[in-house]
Amino acid sequence: MTDDLDFETLDLHAEDAADDPRVRGWLDAILRGFLQGRPTDGFREKWLLVARADGAVNRGVWDSPAAGLPADVPVATFAHFVKDLNAGASMVPAWMITDVTVAPTHRRRGLMRRLMTENLEAAVAADVPVAVLTASEGGIYQRFGFGPATREARVRVDTSSRFRLRDRPRDGGRVLMADPGESWPALAAATARHHEVTRGALGRPAYYEEWLSGYDWDEQSEDRKLRLGIRVDPDGEPDGYVAYTVKEEDDAGEVKVHDLVTANATAYLDLWQFLADIDLAPVVTAPAPAVDPLAHALVDHRVRRVTSVPDHLWVRILDVRRCLEARPWFADGSLVLSMADPLGHAEGAVRIDASGGRAAVTPSRDAPDVTLDVETLGALYLGDVAVDPLARAGRVRGSDEALARFADLADGSPSPHCVTHF
Ligand SMILES: CC(C)(COP(=O)(O)OP(=O)(O)OC[C@H]1O[C@@H](n2cnc3c(N)ncnc32)[C@H](O)[C@@H]1OP(=O)(O)O)[C@@H](O)C(=O)NCCC(=O)NCCS
Repeated sequence: MTDDLDFETLDLHAEDAADDPRVRGWLDAILRGFLQGRPTDGFREKWLLVARADGAVNRGVWDSPAAGLPADVPVATFAHFVKDLNAGASMVPAWMITDVTVAPTHRRRGLMRRLMTENLEAAVAADVPVAVLTASEGGIYQRFGFGPATREARVRVDTSSRFRLRDRPRDGGRVLMADPGESWPALAAATARHHEVTRGALGRPAYYEEWLSGYDWDEQSEDRKLRLGIRVDPDGEPDGYVAYTVKEEDDAGEVKVHDLVTANATAYLDLWQFLADIDLAPVVTAPAPAVDPLAHALVDHRVRRVTSVPDHLWVRILDVRRCLEARPWFADGSLVLSMADPLGHAEGAVRIDASGGRAAVTPSRDAPDVTLDVETLGALYLGDVAVDPLARAGRVRGSDEALARFADLADGSPSPHCVTHF
């Protein structure tokens, strides 16, 4: 059903890429697919700049022209680039899949299935051990072996006089106010520190630099509203920041946090105190970790209301050995784990020998202690969900003893937190 169509990977590094009708059409297709407006020339330039900086590989599917209408806009798009994922014990290269769209005229003909299957094969061929994506709907990507592996809460916090943090250790750091355009090196330094220490953190695509330097990708124009608070540690080095806007609601300001990135809990709570100290704005809405220290740092925890906790990063294990050796293990012991994989990449059994927080993982022919499918392994991978609820859902199987041993080995904090959107 897809053989009559033209599949092509764009060369974004070609000198004339900016004027290539298929490159221009590809961008038109993703903005249309994600229900946004048509791109300005300035937007096209910035998009090409960041796609090149990320080393993005952009694939499209074109149908033949008819009725004299141009056919430069593809009927399906698919892209990926590679950045590091902090798997908890070490970094692994992650194949970040994005810009998956299929035109309404060509949906449910197997286009996405073909693009995804071929793309995951390309990841394996490139020796990248894990693929990740974020999903617009919850029912699409399980069939390709992806499991939801991190969540991101949305919170609404009353920052009027009811907001009070408990006494806590302070380190002499402070928060400075700054504007986009002058702050990128400090933001990049704080983000790098966050990435180093945060389980589930992902390298960020280059669009963040443009955005946090003052370009509004949604409005396709200069951003005049974004404000920054930057936390510096006692040595004067940035270890966190918050990017926010303020809007007028019923004669009072409401602070909307767009990005909150910190390398330690002191910076995190200092930035929350900073947000609460913005006068004339008694409400703050923000993204938050699914397990949020703020909830426990408040005197009255009810000032913080969780409005939703959607899934965020979906993980697809491709190389079981490398992935499991890069995550932390919380007890010493051994276990044979057997995976089923509809696409075959992770199919088979491995023996996990854990000791001192790390594991050696080797192929095994022994009878498995525990069986699960690759989607479930993805969901477990970063520690967002524990073995027990998945076992009770029938998704991790084994004797009671083997399940308890797997839980001892695999479950432990910290829970993951991914603040990268792509
Ligand atoms: C989601 C989308 C990419 C699917 O493309 P498509 O070419 O129609 O999908 P396919 O025909 O290849 O379907 C592949 C499989 O996924 C299933 N599927 C596709 N869209 C689905 C959806 N929204 N919900 C549940 N299942 C879905 C199909 O039933 C099919 O299942 P099967 O192969 O196991 O029988 C397309 O509908 C789209 O562009 N949506 C808007 C943009 C979007 O949501 N992108 C995802 C952002 S990450």
